[in-house]
Amino acid sequence: MKVTVVGAGAVGATCADNIARKELCEELVLLDIKEGFAEGKAMDMMQTATLLGFDTKISGSTNDYSKTAGSDVVVITSGIPRKPGMTREELIGINAGIVKGVTENILKFSPDAVIVVISNPMDTMTYLALKSSGVDKHKIIGMGGTLDSSRFKFYLSQALQCSPNDVHGLVIGGHGDTTMIPLTRLATLNSFPISNLLDEETLKKVAEDTMVGGATLTGLLGTSAWYAPGAAGAAVVESIIRDEKKVMTCCVALEGEYGQKDICLGVPVVLGKNGWEKIIDFNLNDEEKAAFSKSADAVRNMNAVLDTMTV
Ligand code: 2OP
Repeated sequence: MKVTVVGAGAVGATCADNIARKELCEELVLLDIKEGFAEGKAMDMMQTATLLGFDTKISGSTNDYSKTAGSDVVVITSGIPRKPGMTREELIGINAGIVKGVTENILKFSPDAVIVVISNPMDTMTYLALKSSGVDKHKIIGMGGTLDSSRFKFYLSQALQCSPNDVHGLVIGGHGDTTMIPLTRLATLNSFPISNLLDEETLKKVAEDTMVGGATLTGLLGTSAWYAPGAAGAAVVESIIRDEKKVMTCCVALEGEYGQKDICLGVPVVLGKNGWEKIIDFNLNDEEKAAFSKSADAVRNMNAVLDTMTV
């Protein structure tokens, strides 16, 4: 198996590091436009191989896509990250051109690759990758909901004072501070409904903290987060490469599911060797349906900006 991670910045490098530690592939390529940067990160990571005990061969490349040829999965992290006070949506002007170019270059050398998009604004970048490439919809996957769900479970575990690993919960909708929808009604602590264990006010606070989870970290770090985004990217890659059929929230093309079409939005999907294999089209309650539709409207408005740009 071969995996490429495009963008050797903090998120891309962390994602690659997780992929190598888990030995998800024999060959891992890290690519960046900055001269020598990916090569340096790859070499640094390779020097951890004997310390961490992995056998994945990591190599770096400065913008030479021929090195990525034959990749089974490609993770796109390219683009600029947000700064404190910025929304993910404000990145569209710069990142759209970058993501479109990267997708084209990747597909020249790996036409059958499953593409995992991390670049922001993630829902629009996933839509752009799908529309501009015309590849099978099952092969274009935005990672955002996997990250948001992980943050949701973290905040729930803090409120419950329990292990995050005992918490199950999903965040659906867009990967934006106002577009994501933490499904508090359906979250469980080892199968016990959390809505019976925490009061309304605490649940509301958990949902709010989750929605601004990325912004909170950007405020603290001065740039956007990387440990959880990188690990979430690797978790998506893992379920694909190992054909695990895990259910994770990912941003995928909707064609009527959840009442939406011509949009990529976060919904629970089964992830396996063919990319996203099935959408779990769960019947939301009226309040959740309204939130999903509002989220879709906001993402659709953002997607419309692509039409006004020459990308
Ligand atoms: C985040 O939420 C990078 O969008 C990513 O941290």
